[in-house]
Amino acid sequence: MSRTPLVIANWKMNKTLSEATFFIESIKKEFSNVSKRVWIAPPFISIAACVQAAEGTSLRIGAQNMHTQEEGAFTGEVSARMLKGIGAHFVIIGHSERRAFFGESEKEINEKIKRALSHHLTPVLCVGESLEQRERGEEKIVLRDQLEGGLEGLSSNEIAQMVISYEPVWAIGTGKVATPAMAQNSAFFIREFLAENWGKECAQKISLLYGGSVKADSVPLFIAEPDVDGVLVGGASLDLRAFMSMIQG
Ligand code: PGA
Repeated sequence: MSRTPLVIANWKMNKTLSEATFFIESIKKEFSNVSKRVWIAPPFISIAACVQAAEGTSLRIGAQNMHTQEEGAFTGEVSARMLKGIGAHFVIIGHSERRAFFGESEKEINEKIKRALSHHLTPVLCVGESLEQRERGEEKIVLRDQLEGGLEGLSSNEIAQMVISYEPVWAIGTGKVATPAMAQNSAFFIREFLAENWGKECAQKISLLYGGSVKADSVPLFIAEPDVDGVLVGGASLDLRAFMSMIQG
């Protein structure tokens, strides 16, 4: 995978099916002058229609979550195989909202990553410290624990295919954005950690993102950092004009 700048939109629990497809159709009209990689994660029920709407472009559609198991009696859940079957390209795993509101453990996150890879879905692993952890100066310890837990048992080949997003919990949906220097510091730490444990080649190949209150005007500042290869955007990705200006230029 190349490290061409990557912008991922995480729509969370927003947009109906018609709103989602309207958005994709609208970006498609102006997509010819976009040189970044652009991936969008709508809610599950809109993925198939968004994949169809994005056909013929380099726009990639993915999911915000999936279940650990292949199939079975797990009421209300969605599997990696189902996602692959409708044309999903990637899946966000271990987002801080999943960790906090749904009690996702490192073990589950690790199982989800392995399951996603076995279906050729690109896992986008989210890691990052809370405000209390940052105030205690523990951000590197938290990152290391989340990386060790989430990536356990994976080969360097597998990790090279992934995306990892540094998302400090205190910056998500709060309007408090990390500085580009903070994002670079954490991305550098993640890349070094990967290089030490899985080798330089895998660490150089993987795309590392920053996520947390990113707005259109801050995208170039993050991407300019040597170890930040793109951004994962929540709130600001819901607005068509704001998102267009993020992916263009
Ligand atoms: P936000 O969300 O851009 O709304 O802060 C980011 C995220 O959830 O990754």
